Amino acid sequence: MLTQEQNDLICRAGPGTPGGEFMRRYWQPVALARELPAGGAPVEVELLSEKLVLFRDEQGKPNLIIRRCPHRGADLSYARVENGGLRCLYHGWLFSGDGHCLEQPGEPAGSTLKDKVKFAAYPCVDAGGLIFAYMGPGKPPRLPDLPFLRGATDHAWYTKIHHECNYLQGQEGNCDPQHLSVLHRFLPQGESHQPDLNRLLVADAAPRIEVVETGYGLRILAIRAGDSGSNLVRITNIVLPNYSSFDGGPMLNPKTNRIVPNMGYWVHWHVPINDTAHWKFSIAYRYDGPVDAAYQDEEFAFLDSKYASGRGMHNRFLQDREEMKTRTYAGLGRYFQEHDKFAVESQGPIFDRSTEFLGTADVAVMRMRRMMIEAVEDVKAGREPRYIVREGAPDPIDEMVVRSQNLAADVDVLSPWWKTA
Ligand code: FES
Ligand SMILES: [Fe+2]
Repeated sequence: MLTQEQNDLICRAGPGTPGGEFMRRYWQPVALARELPAGGAPVEVELLSEKLVLFRDEQGKPNLIIRRCPHRGADLSYARVENGGLRCLYHGWLFSGDGHCLEQPGEPAGSTLKDKVKFAAYPCVDAGGLIFAYMGPGKPPRLPDLPFLRGATDHAWYTKIHHECNYLQGQEGNCDPQHLSVLHRFLPQGESHQPDLNRLLVADAAPRIEVVETGYGLRILAIRAGDSGSNLVRITNIVLPNYSSFDGGPMLNPKTNRIVPNMGYWVHWHVPINDTAHWKFSIAYRYDGPVDAAYQDEEFAFLDSKYASGRGMHNRFLQDREEMKTRTYAGLGRYFQEHDKFAVESQGPIFDRSTEFLGTADVAVMRMRRMMIEAVEDVKAGREPRYIVREGAPDPIDEMVVRSQNLAADVDVLSPWWKTA
């Protein structure tokens, strides 16, 4: 349970709010790289409650600036990309991606008015299949040292999913391994791609949950009864400020491939659009070979051209009571992403955490909130928050482990068994 004040502190990320100041200390994904191809049109985006335009200049570099023209407010997502910037259609002022007004065709020769024009412009980089922006003060920190951000490779696959609710609800779902036994349950006649895992998750709906503090956030271990006295241990990570990594759906089509455990992992990055909507950037990363992109496209075929699912509050998520009798527990289809969308959107635009009843299985949710509140307080007090990595310093994310594994009963689940297992 949180007070209304604590809830606001970690939910609200608009400019000038304590939570917004905190979120702005970290790089945030702003778009999929494929949304902004070389030579393509500018894209209107909203990030942390700021309305912006993302454009690739003639050199191919991504830039992120205010959407409303600093002159008299025309929308710059309609502008022309030329002469090293974005030229407003209304009176032709030209704006660079680094915050300068370069030309004002309507001003007399020799006018210095353009040097006085100020507007928001944020550093922006391509990394893997994503474009990141830094909206905070001073020199940006290092980008997280995640392998799929080190260059475009076919070892990763990327998409995003629109959510009509606050980002923290999405991130809390990642802290909550217990819901896998309920919300995502397939019934025996269902269509799980991982029937053995589904069987074990369903059989033990009360996992022991251990939370370990790390340099990047939290390592969460969910320990369930496995077969023959073994323990099924799943490690999920919560990374500051707003993403997670976990063992998710297969990297390859299970109908045509043998699925080896721990081939890679998934990342969910919950990025506030504003306080009542967010993008879930969803990334599949495989260690030792290409992700099957055609298969992932098929698995995410429920998304439309705007990366939205057809299931929502407006149509009661198309819940099917017949399906609930034989195929899925929730009657919300077979895609986990749509189950999660129901869970977090149905909590409301910003969940009021002052009225909840938390249980034993919510231990990691509580730890994550406490970690967030501490980090916001750090920024408020002028201290650097946790997990800001500066150039030249080691990145604790290199210690991140993502696993789902059956361990013999005599293995200490809290030991670093992954180094040998
Ligand atoms: S409104 Fe953009 S140049 Fe005038
Ligand atoms: Fe889920």
